[in-house]
Amino acid sequence: MPIDFGGDYNPEQWSPEVWAEDMRLMPAAGVSLVSVGIFSWASVEPRPGAYDFGWFDQVMDNLAGAGVGASLATMTASPPPWLSHRHPEILPVRADGSRVWPGARQHYCPSSPVYREHAARLVDRLAQRYADHPALRIWHVGNEYGCHTRQCFCDVSAEDFRRWLRTRHGTIEALNEAWSTTFWSQRYADFAEILPPRQAPTFGNPAHHLDFARFSDDAILECYKLERDIVKAYSDKPVTTNFTGLVHKPIDSYKWAAEQDVVSLDSYPDPADPRAHAEAAFGYDLIRSARGGQPWLLMEAAPGAVNWREHNAPKAPGVLRLWSWQAVAQGADAVLFFQWRQARGGAEKFHSAMVPHGGPETRQHRDIQALGRELAAAAEVADSRVRADVALLFDWDSWRAVEMPAHPADLNVLETQQAHYDALFDAHVTCDVVPATAELSAYRMVVVPNLYLMDLDVARRLTDYVAGGGVLVVSFFTGIVDEHERVHLGGYPAPLRAVLGLRVDEFWPLAEPVGLDLAGVRRTGTVWSEWIETEGARPIATYADGELAGRPAVTRHEYGEGVAWYLGTRPEPAAMRAVLDLARADAGVAPVLPDLPADVQAIVRHGHGSDYLFLLNHGSATARIAVSGVDVLGGGPVDGVELAARDVALVRLPA
Ligand code: GAL
Repeated sequence: MPIDFGGDYNPEQWSPEVWAEDMRLMPAAGVSLVSVGIFSWASVEPRPGAYDFGWFDQVMDNLAGAGVGASLATMTASPPPWLSHRHPEILPVRADGSRVWPGARQHYCPSSPVYREHAARLVDRLAQRYADHPALRIWHVGNEYGCHTRQCFCDVSAEDFRRWLRTRHGTIEALNEAWSTTFWSQRYADFAEILPPRQAPTFGNPAHHLDFARFSDDAILECYKLERDIVKAYSDKPVTTNFTGLVHKPIDSYKWAAEQDVVSLDSYPDPADPRAHAEAAFGYDLIRSARGGQPWLLMEAAPGAVNWREHNAPKAPGVLRLWSWQAVAQGADAVLFFQWRQARGGAEKFHSAMVPHGGPETRQHRDIQALGRELAAAAEVADSRVRADVALLFDWDSWRAVEMPAHPADLNVLETQQAHYDALFDAHVTCDVVPATAELSAYRMVVVPNLYLMDLDVARRLTDYVAGGGVLVVSFFTGIVDEHERVHLGGYPAPLRAVLGLRVDEFWPLAEPVGLDLAGVRRTGTVWSEWIETEGARPIATYADGELAGRPAVTRHEYGEGVAWYLGTRPEPAAMRAVLDLARADAGVAPVLPDLPADVQAIVRHGHGSDYLFLLNHGSATARIAVSGVDVLGGGPVDGVELAARDVALVRLPA
């Protein structure tokens, strides 16, 4: 089994002469898998019900002939002009009531029965036609669901929302209770009175907004499931859909992962951002964890620059290779790019590609060829697994809820997660990023950064985890509301008070950083502070100045067989590292290797017979790592690795 290599292949943009060149260049570059057909709807069904699959048959046959597998798209990501022309009612509506027009892509209301019916008809034809095609490897349903159209507020969606609410709440009384509708005179007498949360004079009802976010995610998921079930009826090939970006608030990756055979991710770290690799690392650990550690597919990355940022930096020499191997190190079994051949026209003509405008004799394409060769040499790592001692908890409902307005302060969940993750990443500790409902007993340490919305079951499981010997780290504004956005009464954070050994009386969000005293060292707290009353917990850091001077900021509480840490503020990065190092000492969590240079990322994938150590130098200086084994990429024994800036090593460890 190889590590797959390839990209989005859009042959409809080119003539058959170019296809012939593609079929020479792809095998020469080591391409084994391409996503094909993603935007082909208008080309295979140019008029309603009039199909033209002839050219696409040729494309599939070409791929099979060249030994390249197809990640075959269901072609429904961009409805053709005739569909919205005949049925303008499929076009999505924004919260302010305005309609979105066609002219780009993903211009459909997810709840639209008309869109779904036309999509299903096409997918049925397609699945029937290509189910047994020799090129077919994977079904690629849709494309980046929820990327552009995240919610639709039209009347059709409103009716679908009411249906969804009936299923969730049963009766209007239960809904009124869950939504706290006595507040501001919002009581409903009938489901018919409920609308999507369209633009209102001021803050809407948070429970209403949260349910609409859940519904909108489900409505899009229904589109995916409809197409998945059709292809499954014809074919037993694995089904995936590529997640847009590392994490995307409208689409709950954990929920969606359960509906796929293999998960795939599109990742576009910014080459101009010196910490981009750490941000990507968080997303890769999350996506791997979304299916319990099963290998995942990097379905899209940019070979060089993208074209959708304000400034689009290309990838400096070495970065394409480094970042591709990073995905593999963190559990990917495929590295694919957007796109194979750089478009001549259209909105993405300045987006880099595997074959740039300049053709194959370019730096970009030579780097692609070299990467293809190198990935092919590492086939033995495919299907190996990453193991982690530490889990971070992440939850889409909580993310959606905590970023709503009218809270003590505006909080940014991804920034919060990253602040905790960075302290572990920089300490060379391997993490999983798991849902709040995950089984935790195998982890030595569990970190819960700002899980504002928490049902009692999760709180009980976290408490049991500590009682049983686990080390838990909880950050401020966690365990505050239930699944309906209702505060857990009895002193914050009520369901975690016992395990944390404290009570929070008031939130004191910080406009300016505040001094901290952490074991005699002066540090800084940011974002938040709070009035904590300890109830058994021991202060580890106290506020050094401000109104809370002398009061606890970070605490430690021994509970049952384990330990629970609490951070009432966001320590600045060095202090966060110091606190998490202390918690790690409680948990006995070690880095992947001792004495690793600061900028070297190290990860082990455990194979069936062997273990593989990946070493990635994200820094600008040469790094030396004491390790011995066999060099998988270069061949030959390894006794100490010297890694130049942006260099990568893959070492088969001694048994
Ligand atoms: C992705 C999308 C691709 C292409 C790419 C450009 O979001 O799936 O079709 O647009 O971005 O970076």
